[in-house]
Amino acid sequence: MKTWDGIVVGAGIIGLTLASELQRRGMRVLIVERGEPGREASWAAGGMLADCALETPQALQTLATASARMYPGFARAVEEASGMTVDLRQQGTILFPEDGTVLQQPEFAGRVLHSSAVIALEPNLAAGNRKAVYLAEGSVDPRALTAAAAEAARRAGVDFRRGETVTGLDPGDGAVTGVTTTAGTYAAPVVVNCAGAWAGQIRGGQAPTHPVKGQMLCLLTTPANGLAHVVRTPEAYLIPRSNGRLLIGATLEDAGFDKQMVPKTLERLHRAALTLAPRLQECPVVESWAGLRPGTRDGLPLLGAGGRKGYYIATGHYRDGILLAPVTARLMARLICGEDCEHDLGAFSPMRFGEGAKL
Ligand code: GLY
Repeated sequence: MKTWDGIVVGAGIIGLTLASELQRRGMRVLIVERGEPGREASWAAGGMLADCALETPQALQTLATASARMYPGFARAVEEASGMTVDLRQQGTILFPEDGTVLQQPEFAGRVLHSSAVIALEPNLAAGNRKAVYLAEGSVDPRALTAAAAEAARRAGVDFRRGETVTGLDPGDGAVTGVTTTAGTYAAPVVVNCAGAWAGQIRGGQAPTHPVKGQMLCLLTTPANGLAHVVRTPEAYLIPRSNGRLLIGATLEDAGFDKQMVPKTLERLHRAALTLAPRLQECPVVESWAGLRPGTRDGLPLLGAGGRKGYYIATGHYRDGILLAPVTARLMARLICGEDCEHDLGAFSPMRFGEGAKL
């Protein structure tokens, strides 16, 4: 029977990036994915690389900023390793905060924009007198990124098993020796749970995540009626891609594993976008979808040792999985390979909710 040095459970952007990083460090890695690589939360994600203090939990700020800084190099490396493009865009973000007074806070790193400056940056925005700020935050196309990350992992020699659900860790207690799936068993002395909203369903896995549904839609714009920047308001966010697609998101719903779309909800998001940028009325809706973010009880990811020798958890990134992929891969690979982790991961310990915690 073939054996590996490490098994990564889940082929979303976190699992794919970490698997490549471990393989690069000399481990032979297998990824087991219950569906198709990159087809769950990573596929549904908007791809904003948002690390601004206003919207980032304080405990996550250092990692968020570190990961945002890693992105240009990370995106380039994934493109080179895969021969594919990921549409990293660095035009920046225009944020309309709910409460304009936050712009005076010293930790807020944005540049305040007067309405004439907003129009100069984005002639199609009808911002009126709303307070706005420019942030140097980019975006990436998560579908392109995960497809490229999967190809890069394949080319690096990572093995894939798709359409198999990991049901439990082996053995039931003590140091892990592998996993049991719906199709068989795989042996390895290291197992990393990157299974997102499904991470808590692995027997013995101790990874309490829960699904947080997000509905989104996509318009097809032209250079005349579209946007160049990411635009965020309390009602909706708009994310342009270089190919003319413009994403409008997103809801935050506690709906279990339901991924159905609700027309009324999508209409509300669409209306919010049209109020913000009226020329989007000219643009057809080309797609809508719903995805399941991996939430945790305190909104922070689960990163670290999983309570058994050889078992690690890297999941629960909630709204920030795309942003946090490079830093997660780097820190988890260092931890797994016994190196200094560079950042204190104490706040993200998977054991912080206690043994056997469920959400
Ligand atoms: N990262 C954006 C969202 O979760 O909606």
